[in-house]
Amino acid sequence: MRIGFIGGGVMGEAIIRGILSKGITPSRDIFVSDINTQKCDSLKKKYDISIAQNNQELLNNSDTIILAIKPQTLTEAVSPLKGRLSSRQLVLSIIAGVTIKSLAEELNHDLIVRIMPNTPAQIGEGMSVWTTSKKVSQEQMATTRNILNTLGKEIYVKDEKFLDMATAVSGSGPAYILLIIESFIDAAVHIGFSRDIAKTLVLQTMLGTVKLACESDIHIAELRNMVTSPGGTTAEGLFKLEEGGIRAIISNATIATLEKAKSLGQTK
Ligand SMILES: NC(=O)c1ccc[n+]([C@@H]2O[C@H](COP(=O)([O-])OP(=O)(O)OC[C@H]3O[C@@H](n4cnc5c(N)ncnc54)[C@H](OP(=O)(O)O)[C@@H]3O)[C@@H](O)[C@H]2O)c1
Repeated sequence: MRIGFIGGGVMGEAIIRGILSKGITPSRDIFVSDINTQKCDSLKKKYDISIAQNNQELLNNSDTIILAIKPQTLTEAVSPLKGRLSSRQLVLSIIAGVTIKSLAEELNHDLIVRIMPNTPAQIGEGMSVWTTSKKVSQEQMATTRNILNTLGKEIYVKDEKFLDMATAVSGSGPAYILLIIESFIDAAVHIGFSRDIAKTLVLQTMLGTVKLACESDIHIAELRNMVTSPGGTTAEGLFKLEEGGIRAIISNATIATLEKAKSLGQTK
């Protein structure tokens, strides 16, 4: 299978790495077109993939085309391709906020998969949520699933509204979690730990807690109760988090991200 990438940035490279690590297709059958020639050179050097001189050349060499460009460069990148895709070429888009309908119009093509991946895909621990246009076949869905499995977990959803919702949770989620990690490290430094030790304590606590929650059948709230002795130290800390409105803050952030994702979809 020949897979072509329009855009070889952070996410494009993560998908290339995933595909090669699981041997989905040989490196010579991966094509990249990126206006940034330095990125092309670096990708060729690192992964020995093929470079297309432009997006039209990429189209001629690909069975599956992955759009991994920023939303603001979409029209410029794909307008020369409008009406030029064959009835068998599948388009996978990871562009945030761009609906299947608008992509289908931009390309005059009806085999489209819309995906919301996230950055942990760079280490094979990503979360991708995806849906397809009506005409995408079972075989093409299996191809998509194969590619996404190389990036971590994937969930297919029937209704496209879940893509905007996933943007607000798994898409933007890594940024929320990183902000929490950063704040927690700063707090540990504030009470006297060196930055190195603070980072180790916080990251291992995050990692261990997430693994515990994943591997346990016990409800999340019950797991938390188990570390909260009556009148104890943890109860004191939790009270301060609740007093600061942590639940409402996280909910408000998620709702605001969802609204932004929906508005991006409307303007495209
Ligand atoms: N990063 C995330 O967390 C994340 C998560 C989910 C979804 N996404 C989506 O993934 C997409 C890609 O994000 P990214 O972080 O990988 O972006 P990125 O690192 O900026 O990569 C995009 C690449 O496309 C190139 N490009 C621009 N115009 C082009 C054109 N006309 N033809 C070919 N290449 C072109 C860019 O070159 P220049 O640098 O020279 O502009 C850049 O190398 C975005 O739409 C984003 O919404 C990202």
